[in-house]
Amino acid sequence: MRRRSFLKSTLLSGLAASVLKSKMVDGAVLKESKGKVLVVSSYNGLRATEKAAQMILNGSDALDAVIAGVNIVENDPDDHSVGYGGLPNEEGVVELDSCVMHGPTHNAGAVAALRNIKNPSKVARLVMERTDHVLLVGEGALKFAKAHGFKEEDLLTDEARKIWLYWKEGLSDKDDWFLPPMDQIPEKYKKWIHTTGTITCLGLDLQGNISGVTTTSGLAFKIPGRVGDSPIIGAGLYVDNEVGACGSTGRGEENLKNLSCYQVVEYMRDGLSPEAACKKVLKRVIDHAKLPELKNSRGYPSFNLRLYALNKNGEFGSASIYGPAEFSVFDGKENKRRPSPFFYEWKYLK
Ligand code: GLY
Repeated sequence: MRRRSFLKSTLLSGLAASVLKSKMVDGAVLKESKGKVLVVSSYNGLRATEKAAQMILNGSDALDAVIAGVNIVENDPDDHSVGYGGLPNEEGVVELDSCVMHGPTHNAGAVAALRNIKNPSKVARLVMERTDHVLLVGEGALKFAKAHGFKEEDLLTDEARKIWLYWKEGLSDKDDWFLPPMDQIPEKYKKWIHTTGTITCLGLDLQGNISGVTTTSGLAFKIPGRVGDSPIIGAGLYVDNEVGACGSTGRGEENLKNLSCYQVVEYMRDGLSPEAACKKVLKRVIDHAKLPELKNSRGYPSFNLRLYALNKNGEFGSASIYGPAEFSVFDGKENKRRPSPFFYEWKYLK
């Protein structure tokens, strides 16, 4: 373990211990703790789980905590799959999707194709709390965000613009755009060509309540207006306070056709562990991928999808179509990445 992560995880364990100790001194607060504190997120969510765990241990509702956690990644210009610095649509404009779901009220809110606002998760929460609706899209979502005081800003960072420009220049040899020689394009830019990325974060708080959030810039270089799974309740996120929660990252289209997160929660309701439920649903997604474009030349899925879940008893799990894969977890003691089971090694995706 790197020194920095060791210090962080030790700090969190220390914090957990000190919070529990002070709650014991406080007596009344200890009674409120229904069990284990747990935060689960995608690979890119280690800072989110850390932040959310700190807040939950200090008594926050899981929804406040997980949104504050993903805001760190939404604000990070170096994560090109989420928020500020996210990769743009085919016209070079960043469009963001997000949803939230609050277990205790079984309420939800979402925004899709939202431009110029870097924290779509905060806007999704306001849709839930300050409207009679669940999902606002495009211009309506932007107007709603501005009505609530969000400031418009250009979300396209210089690095994301360059990645988009290389993609555009490399699209065709029958147009007037030329790529520079490949050896002049930094390696780190090449790996982003036509990719998806997202962050999801699920939390179980001291009250035994569960909430979740998913937020993304979606498929890189998408057709303007394309909406993936992330803002769709049941696809990119689902929470049932009596059972558990599931979030997803990866190819949204296949998730939309299977409502994977809803199904994971339903399998957990039937008694499956979070990991077993994630695996069972991904197996179904793979079986349903019958279209030729969803298979590569060797017959393997031409896309990846990952599911992350926790249940009311404080158990957690994840699964990925391709791996090795990891996900981020604060399990009440340690905040670290853990391996995710997978169906196929990455080499079979090529
Ligand atoms: N899962 C992110 C997307 O497909 O938009």
